[in-house]
Amino acid sequence: MPVNTNDQGKLFTDIEVVQRIFAHIDNATTDLGTQSWKEPTDNYRSKARLMAELDILQSRSIVFCPSSALANIGDYVARDAANVPLIVVRGLDGVVRAFRNACRHRGVKLADGEGCARALVCPYHGWAYSLNGNLLGIPHEAGFPDVDKATRGLVAVACFESNGLIFINQNPQVSIEKGIEQDIVPIPKIIPDHYRLLNSASQIVNTNWKLYLESSLEGYHIRQTHKSTFFPVQYDNLTVVEAFGENSRVTFPYQSIEGLRHNKESDISVDGRLTYVYHLFPNVIISTFPGCIQVNVLEPIDEATTRQHTYLISAIGENDTPRLDAISQGQQFAAKGAIEDLQIVLSAQRGLASKANEFLEFGLFESAIVRLHAHLAKEIERASK
Ligand code: FES
Ligand SMILES: [Fe+2]
Repeated sequence: MPVNTNDQGKLFTDIEVVQRIFAHIDNATTDLGTQSWKEPTDNYRSKARLMAELDILQSRSIVFCPSSALANIGDYVARDAANVPLIVVRGLDGVVRAFRNACRHRGVKLADGEGCARALVCPYHGWAYSLNGNLLGIPHEAGFPDVDKATRGLVAVACFESNGLIFINQNPQVSIEKGIEQDIVPIPKIIPDHYRLLNSASQIVNTNWKLYLESSLEGYHIRQTHKSTFFPVQYDNLTVVEAFGENSRVTFPYQSIEGLRHNKESDISVDGRLTYVYHLFPNVIISTFPGCIQVNVLEPIDEATTRQHTYLISAIGENDTPRLDAISQGQQFAAKGAIEDLQIVLSAQRGLASKANEFLEFGLFESAIVRLHAHLAKEIERASK
């Protein structure tokens, strides 16, 4: 069956996805793209190419983190996005704002990592900023007769909160006041209301960010890579692949989906029966797991190094120990599979050094990856004009 392509962010309903999966199980088929793709290996190795990709990342609206990572007033996340240090903070008025994370005195970062504060105070000399970026105070202010505090607030970056996600746009052409809401391609509601942050983590992986991303976007490797983890409970090479705008959704059914065969449509819940992997172009992956959702942002550091930020969110309350334990067991299982993927991707990274291939080949089962490369190529070409 061909890929469902829809530019309005309208994806199959859960029931339609389940029906499509049953058709694939019964016919031993899977969704197929319309073209294969040869991606030059230089595009994974070249510094110039990485710079062009970072320019794309810096010029468009991109998910920074889930809203639940900034649940309370004063909560902040300070980290690099597209190699630019940013701090995103929920203000006293409840509005989330983003700033370039550099003091207006001598450029030191105001914070690093995650925390909660009532003001952002520079660790070097103590210049203090309000949560909406205004420069509030300069210690021994008499030493700075030329500084006009009113014009030396933190430098804002466009920021927008929608459907449980926080988007940023570093493009200086984007008006902070007008915002970026209109720039965001309709994205289906992925995160249900009332989700909260269970935990967040970050890790450095020594691979190109696209090689790493690719491993989440196809089910053709399930049998071979995940022999004793996912393969016994999922299906090899059976995915539903949908496109919306430059984004994709790849559905990985679990064998437990058979339990829905004879359910009335009104009794169909896909929780615990499949994983939806949303690829939000270019560098964000949101995956659904039983009872929880993982938001992953892949930040390229250089051609062969990526920082992965992971946010695990759920609606399950903090006192519901049995269900939280079940989530943690499920996540341990998923982590085993993720380690298997990482080993393979590290090997593919070494494979680049072998110089055996002038290109990597992506077939009809790997159409979400083809879409990633096709759109990235198109965006880079557009930016170069
Ligand atoms: S660099 Fe921030 S107060 Fe001096
Ligand atoms: Fe995998």
